[in-house]
Amino acid sequence: MKLLIDDANVAKIKKIYEFYPVDGVTTNPSILAKSGRNPYEVLKEIREFIGEEAELHAQVISLDADGMVKEAEKMVSVLGKNTFIKIPTIPEGLKAMKILSARGFKITATAIYTPMQAYLAAKAGADYAAPYVNRIDNLGADGIASAKMIQNIYENNGFKTQILAASFKNSNQVQELCAYGVGASTVAPDVIENLIKNACVTSAVQDFVTDFEKLCGAGKTMLDCE
Ligand code: E4P
Repeated sequence: MKLLIDDANVAKIKKIYEFYPVDGVTTNPSILAKSGRNPYEVLKEIREFIGEEAELHAQVISLDADGMVKEAEKMVSVLGKNTFIKIPTIPEGLKAMKILSARGFKITATAIYTPMQAYLAAKAGADYAAPYVNRIDNLGADGIASAKMIQNIYENNGFKTQILAASFKNSNQVQELCAYGVGASTVAPDVIENLIKNACVTSAVQDFVTDFEKLCGAGKTMLDCE
């Protein structure tokens, strides 16, 4: 499963990149709005930091297919070829996906709340489909079960489209879909950090250091204990 950062805060992105093995960055208009900065200024800064080969996902704003296509053209020209155009999975979005996929654009079908949206997005040529796990849970439905059903639909129908699971609020949601083998998940920095945060691990690692220092002296490591 690929792991992407769902954020547009460049400082947070840099911090996650320093420590964690990640594959790129996703944004949406609400995430960009939180930065309070010009969207292209932020996205260009992210692209410059993550490099040309990493995935950058950014969303169109238009609600009509013609506008979506024009936005996609501009976004790829400014942000580079490995930019996935996030298109809401509504009828106009499906129309735009068909046009853009035929022209070789990389597409992430977004705002997916139901498996049938994901099915239609795959047929329209999307590379990724992004089910909103936690938002589905908040509707009283089951976000994990929906994502798993989408994976089954894709596998059983031979679609190449991958799941890019989104809208996570806790580690267990990410773990469930990782175990199920979905193609990718995009996760906010605090949830990524929580994937590995564990007091037992911290304590076990500290015990090793304490025992070694008892043996060799305070501050000693394998570098200078001979
Ligand atoms: C990604 O495609 C979505 O825009 C994002 O993960 C939604 O997350 P949220 O439900 O936390 O806003």
